[in-house]
Amino acid sequence: MKPIIVANWKCNPTTQQEAKRLFNLVKKGVKDVKNIEVVICSPFVYLPVLKANGAQDCFWEGKGAFTGEISPKMLKDLGCKYVIIGHSERRRYFEETDEMINKKIKAALKVGLKSILCIDKVSQIREHQRSVKMNEVHRLKKGIKGIIKKDFKKIILAYEPLFAIGTGKPCSIDKAKKMRIAIKKKLNKNIPILYGGSINSQNARDYVKKAGFQGLLVGGASLNAQEFIKIVKNVAKT
Ligand code: PGA
Repeated sequence: MKPIIVANWKCNPTTQQEAKRLFNLVKKGVKDVKNIEVVICSPFVYLPVLKANGAQDCFWEGKGAFTGEISPKMLKDLGCKYVIIGHSERRRYFEETDEMINKKIKAALKVGLKSILCIDKVSQIREHQRSVKMNEVHRLKKGIKGIIKKDFKKIILAYEPLFAIGTGKPCSIDKAKKMRIAIKKKLNKNIPILYGGSINSQNARDYVKKAGFQGLLVGGASLNAQEFIKIVKNVAKT
């Protein structure tokens, strides 16, 4: 499997013009890189114009009276192939629970979208209040509960330690590697695992080549076209 590098633009940029510019620069910059799968998860509103291949979230119902929601079917119809589910910001700011995330994954799989399931250590706000702590594996198991075997090949995990997200303080290669191995062992399934958290063009390659991750989930650095292109090219180097 080729390494996957996912750009998570989050709630950026603020105009369609900037989104188009960033998208086109990245597309052009990675055009000749054949050994990496590049996924760009733009905000929903830019998907029809960019024809980006990824989204940052989806709802669990196909349609109906659910004001403000976007269904997996709608994403699929726009040409999306991937969807990020359970990002820590969704868990933290929108109180998404593992049960909600599990429903979203199942709904995404139903229409053939590949789910990028994010896992971290600290649990969501409600659980903080009850001061319950769950580790990554527990969280992961709740996220994928009830998913049938044949669908596992459409799931990708992203290990994103909270302390590393948007802080400029990435997880050490050694620690990330240990975590990847532990998740893999506990899970006992062949699911690709990505690393996310303060990735830049200097550290990107090591997470794939030294820590053995199957790819990366890139936040802040994906908003800078040149930096993101460098990340992709550095990982692509054989
Ligand atoms: P970051 O974000 O690269 O800005 O740390 C990663 C993420 O939130 O997916």
